[in-house]
Amino acid sequence: MILCIADMLADELLAEARKAFADGQFEDGGMTAGWHAKLVKRNLQLQGNQPMVMALRQKIQSQIAAHRIIQMAALPMRFRPLLFNRYETGMSYGSHVDDALMGRTPDGGPELRSDISFTLFLSDPETYEGGELVIESTSGEQVFKLQAGQAVIYPSTSLHRVCEVTHGIRDAAVGWAQSYVRDAGQREMLFELDTVRRAIFKRDGKSPEFDQLSKVYSNLLRAWSEV
Ligand code: NI
Repeated sequence: MILCIADMLADELLAEARKAFADGQFEDGGMTAGWHAKLVKRNLQLQGNQPMVMALRQKIQSQIAAHRIIQMAALPMRFRPLLFNRYETGMSYGSHVDDALMGRTPDGGPELRSDISFTLFLSDPETYEGGELVIESTSGEQVFKLQAGQAVIYPSTSLHRVCEVTHGIRDAAVGWAQSYVRDAGQREMLFELDTVRRAIFKRDGKSPEFDQLSKVYSNLLRAWSEV
């Protein structure tokens, strides 16, 4: 399941992100790619240890984690720190799959398993050409070039790429979450059930049908989640 979220970022945070991109120091984006993805990754990213970037990351991450659709669709357990990347004219990120295990804990284990990947668009689409995010799925390729402040979330299991920017500059934030539910198909069914039971609640209140659906939802979540 691939979902677009129109109201991901409030305007004031978008303005703050633009200031960070205007004032910040950049490094080669290849530093944060797996060994095979590195071969096709041509972009820049904001150095993560700048105080302005750290503050921005914290605020945007909180907003993403609290978003109702993210909560319902991703069932997030934990997030990787966001990366802020920039594609200048001529830059692209060829087809790749994101690393399954990411980060390092102090005891040397992986920090998380990537189940969900997301891209938060920060540049107005009219200001650059190219730069589409293309996600491969069983039903073909899906192409995304969203408004600034909008996000797309998709299963980390997908091959995807960013087309070459042929004019202008494309800024975005990318991130990953481990979900309580590893399987994308199970997450989709839970999301649909949750959506339906909320619609029924809105229409009829806490009816016997709502209770029954809530029971099924809870028990599937109990069966499928890892905590
Ligand atoms: Ni990727």
